[in-house]
Order: sequence, then C-alpha cells, then structure tokens
Amino acid sequence: MRILVTGGAGYIGSHTCVELLQQGHEVIVVDNLCNSKEDSLKRVQELTGRKLTFFKIDLLDRKSLIDLFDTLSVEAVIHFAGLKSVGESVNLPLRYYHNNVTGTMLLCEVMAEHNVTTMVFSSSATVYGEPKTVPIDENAPLAPTNPYGRSKLMIETVLKDLHAADKRWNIALLRYFNPVGAHPSGLIGESPQGIPNNLFPYITQVAVGMLSKLSIFGDDYPTADGTGIRDYVHVLDVARGHTKALERLAERPGVVTYNLGTGKGYTVLEVVSAFEKSSGRKIPYQIVSRRAGDSAESYADTSLIKSELGWVAEKGIDEMCADAWNWQSKNPRGYT
Ligand code: NAD
Ligand code: WQD
Repeated sequence: MRILVTGGAGYIGSHTCVELLQQGHEVIVVDNLCNSKEDSLKRVQELTGRKLTFFKIDLLDRKSLIDLFDTLSVEAVIHFAGLKSVGESVNLPLRYYHNNVTGTMLLCEVMAEHNVTTMVFSSSATVYGEPKTVPIDENAPLAPTNPYGRSKLMIETVLKDLHAADKRWNIALLRYFNPVGAHPSGLIGESPQGIPNNLFPYITQVAVGMLSKLSIFGDDYPTADGTGIRDYVHVLDVARGHTKALERLAERPGVVTYNLGTGKGYTVLEVVSAFEKSSGRKIPYQIVSRRAGDSAESYADTSLIKSELGWVAEKGIDEMCADAWNWQSKNPRGYT
C-alpha cells in the first residue's frame, strides 16, 4: 500500500514508519518538523535499508497538501501530526485547536477531494479524562480535562461524523495510553525539546546525567505505594497496532475505536525501580506535590482490540526500560 504518514518524523510516527517499511509498504511522510528532526527519517531508512519519501509540509498549508495528493496516489493515511503538550495547550488553546483540529479538517477535505477515505488517527487515553473506574474500556465516559485532550475528542467527533455522512470513510481511532521505549537498535527514540514533561524521558535524562533528579508528583494517591499508576506501552507495540488497524479497515470497512495499552498499570516508583534494574543506574528522586490534572490511576481494558484485531502488547516494562535507556545512552542529546 502507498501510505501517507503525517507527523512521521516524530516519536511514534518514526517507529511506525519502520514497521510499515518492514511490511513492504510504500511510505510518504509529511511533517513540518515543529517537534522533530529529519534525522529520524534518515535513521528509519538506515535501519530498514528501505527508502521513504519526505515532504516538509505543514498540514495547515492546503495548497501544498493538494499538490502532494495530485501527484502521488495515496491509498491510506496514518495521521500522527499534532501538538501534544498538555501544559502548553492550557496556555495556548487556540494554537492547539487550530493546529490539531483545523489541520485534521483540511487534511480530510483534501483526502475526500482525491477519493482517499482510509485513515488511522492518533487519539489518546486523555479523552477519558479522570476515569471513574479502571480498567478503562472504549465506552467509558469521554471528559478530557484540557485543550489538548479536547482537541483529540473534537477530531474523533469530526471523523465519526464524516463516516456517518459518507460510508466510504474507513477510520480507526486509536487511543494510546502511555507510549514509551524505543527501537532496540538505539537509532530512533523519543527526543523531546527542552525539559521533558513525561516520566520516561525525564528518567532517562536523569540516568544520563542531563538532569539531576526526578520529581515524583505526589505519594498520597490511593495506590499501593501512593504514586500514580499508568499503562505504559512499548512504542513498537503501538506501531504494530497501526498496521493491524489498517488490515482491519481493508477487511471490514467502517469506523472503529480501540484502546492501545497493555492493560497493566505500574506506579511511578515501580517504573523507577524497573528502570534502575534495566540500566544499572541509580535514579535520585524527591517527592513533590501532585501535578494539577493528574489522576491516581489509568490503565486500559484491551479486550476489544484483542478480540477484533488480535493485537496484544508483547513487550513488558523491562523491555520498555531497557530500550529507552539504550536509546538515551547512545544519543544523550537525542537527534541533536
Ligand atoms: P511528536 O511530537 O513526536 O510527533 C508529532 C509530529 O507531528 C512531529 O514530528 C511534528 O513536527 C508534527 N506536526 C505537528 N503539527 C504539524 C502540522 N501542522 N503539520 C505537519 N506536521 C506537524 O509526538 P508523538 O509522541 O509521536 O505523537 C504522535 C501523535 O500521537 C500525536 O498526535 C499525539 O497527540 C498522539 N499521542 C501521543 C502520545 C504520547 O504519549 N506520545 C499519547 C497519546 C497520543
Ligand atoms: C506519568 C506518571 C505523573 C513526570 C501524558 C498526557 C497524555 C498522553 C501521555 C498524549 C504520572 C508521573 C511524570 C515527572 C512524575 N499524551 N510523573 N514526574 O500524565 O499519564 O500522560 O502523556 O496524548 O495525554 O497527559 O504521562 O509521563 O507525564 O506521567 O512523577 O516528572 O508519572 O504524575 O503519574 P501522563 P506522564
């Protein structure tokens, strides 16, 4: 298949490009590089020994998108491109709604004009907001608590409405839990700009000596050790979820929504301890107050994706830690 990957230079996109190329697909990447480097794509090609095509295009640039669809016969789109920082979205809501929602709507318009109606979309477990119960299944209430999460929910709604209006649309909405880890080659991985917001890149930067210690946000949650529980899922398992979703859309068209997680939650302290074991490095930490907007516990009910796609996460927490560390130790400053 000839697949357009928006945001393909980013963290999850680059790992998915590896999976697609290894499966023999033809890959075209569109990315404006606002949160990534073209290096990631060079390394994707190096590690797969296969070529992909890259266009530095902003999704908001309708004309360039039209030119691309006019010249290349795209068969399906995997749509990663978006801004993803929760905190930034609270301060810059218009930027988030414009980039994420308007960007997706423009993309869909251009796709429809070119009769391309298959899309796999990167949604997020953040659409559930504070979960009432765990594990969280796909029918749980949707109540995102920040503009980033609401942009994801708006896009889900737009895409469902598109399918309702025109049954040619085949759409998979994949709600990722906490993607972490890296390709075991150590060639590609997560390379956040500035101080990381998320737990894994923070820990790996402490381990490599770029940051002095981890701040753990709260130890008074109603969990076994008082720290927050999340469903960490290896980025290669996430990548494989996309090819599975494409196969499903080809066999049985429609609109589908799946959680992508392992179904198992770990506390922050359990992650720190697993990482120390995998890396052999001590992670100094301090307990600080809770981070606004964090919930005590979030992990997925993965039975739907297992029964409908046969997808289950194969890699456990030790592999996630080992691969994250392998990437960070080989590339202390990421792609720069
Ligand atoms: P990322 O920032 O590494 O990748 C996103 C890519 O999109 C970047 O390369 C960026 O340059 C590009 N981009 C952003 N806006 C664009 C635009 N207007 N035009 C063209 N390119 C644009 O993020 P990621 O972690 O790989 O996440 C990929 C997707 O998955 C995002 O949509 C994100 O919201 C979603 N998601 C991520 C996580 C996570 O924890 N990483 C969890 C749930 C959902
Ligand atoms: C994990 C746990 C923190 C950093 C975020 C987004 C979500 C999705 C995935 C895109 C929590 C604790 C963290 C630190 C800590 N992204 N923590 N010290 O918050 O579950 O989800 O990324 O869609 O939308 O909100 O992930 O990695 O930030 O936090 O103690 O320095 O680690 O409190 O319990 P989160 P995270």
